[in-house]
Amino acid sequence: MDPRRNPYAPRAGTPPPELAGRNDIIERAAIALHRIANGRAAQSLILYGLRGVGKTVLLSRMRLDAEQEGYVPVTIEAPEDRSLPAILGPALRTTLIRMSRGAAAKKALKKALGALASFARTAKIKYEDVEFNVDFEAAIGLADSGDLDTDLTDLLRSVGETAAERSTAVILFLDELQYVPEEQLAALICALHSVNQHQLPLTLVGAGLPQLLGQMGRAKSYAERLFELVPIDALDAEAARQALCIPAEHEGVQFEDVAVEEIVSRTEGYPYFLQEWGKCAWSEADASLITHQDALRATDVALAELDASFFRVRFDRLTPAEKLYLRAMAELGAAPHRSGDIAQMMGKKPSAVAPIRNRIIGKGMAYSPSHGDTAFTVPLFR
Ligand SMILES: Nc1ncnc2c1ncn2[C@@H]1O[C@H](COP(=O)(O)OP(=O)(O)O)[C@@H](O)[C@H]1O
Ligand SMILES: [Mg+2]
Repeated sequence: MDPRRNPYAPRAGTPPPELAGRNDIIERAAIALHRIANGRAAQSLILYGLRGVGKTVLLSRMRLDAEQEGYVPVTIEAPEDRSLPAILGPALRTTLIRMSRGAAAKKALKKALGALASFARTAKIKYEDVEFNVDFEAAIGLADSGDLDTDLTDLLRSVGETAAERSTAVILFLDELQYVPEEQLAALICALHSVNQHQLPLTLVGAGLPQLLGQMGRAKSYAERLFELVPIDALDAEAARQALCIPAEHEGVQFEDVAVEEIVSRTEGYPYFLQEWGKCAWSEADASLITHQDALRATDVALAELDASFFRVRFDRLTPAEKLYLRAMAELGAAPHRSGDIAQMMGKKPSAVAPIRNRIIGKGMAYSPSHGDTAFTVPLFR
């Protein structure tokens, strides 16, 4: 069928034509943010799950909703190997500038700008990748101790006070949170805890790979009081059907029931794969009915495309030793696997391959669902 009208969107972070099966969680976020914005007790959300389940698009949707509520969203993606101050600082700078518009009171704003100027200066000494500058006089005694816990607390509290002064709320949307080094994550949680205790209208909505769960727990035991940790999983059969069929229906195209069944079972309901299969099935079909045959051919094409892109970009980031480790995992069958079994498959001692495992987890390719177990973070990667 006409590729111009193909509605599917298999791309990391690209909003799907139909965001299926996530209404509950969107509503839960809206309630939590509304409560926090109004000084009421609530847990904010941290979304965790495998690659391709739709965490980033959920964050984007929550961000849009927050904007419509009149809050000030701050979108940040934690890249690998960057410090939190280096990514948070510039984002907060933009936020404060945004909030400086208009004629409202500015006492808290000036304090926050001073705190950020101090923070920039202090953080530069400790973190080599901090580069931003704030064109404002540094506040003395605020965010300048050199201790990240204290300085982030000063900074986020003063940003929260600015939000209160302007009768709004600042919501930090932080994606790929698993890449934030643990002691910096702990400092962030500590700062948010203080903001929360002062009932200031500032919070974080986060997302990351499953390893985040353990990282949060180790980072600060009160993380679980501040946040509801929400697992984001594959879609159930009904939501998967909607994700597939509704975009086609908008274009006047139907799926045969057996075609839907084929795709839902092949994709295991993973959102990324549903988009990929939807796109391929659409291309294969030549009339406004997508048949079982089309779905079967889509499987071949979709797998080849995934191999060339989604899986390839990840595989290419691995060293030869890391590839061998993943190969051993794949040979063992469906994950999770015990570290000892993987080592044995490789003909090595567990202690000899432990550093490889750590690097694979650090790169976000695998995670540990429970102590000593290893599983892929990417569905179908095996
Ligand atoms: N609820 C959903 N329904 C249908 N498609 C979805 C849904 N959530 C995500 N997608 C699609 O899945 C793909 C991966 O989404 P993304 O947010 O990048 O996942 P993650 O951040 O968890 O790796 C994108 O192509 C997106 O359009
Ligand atoms: Mg993502």
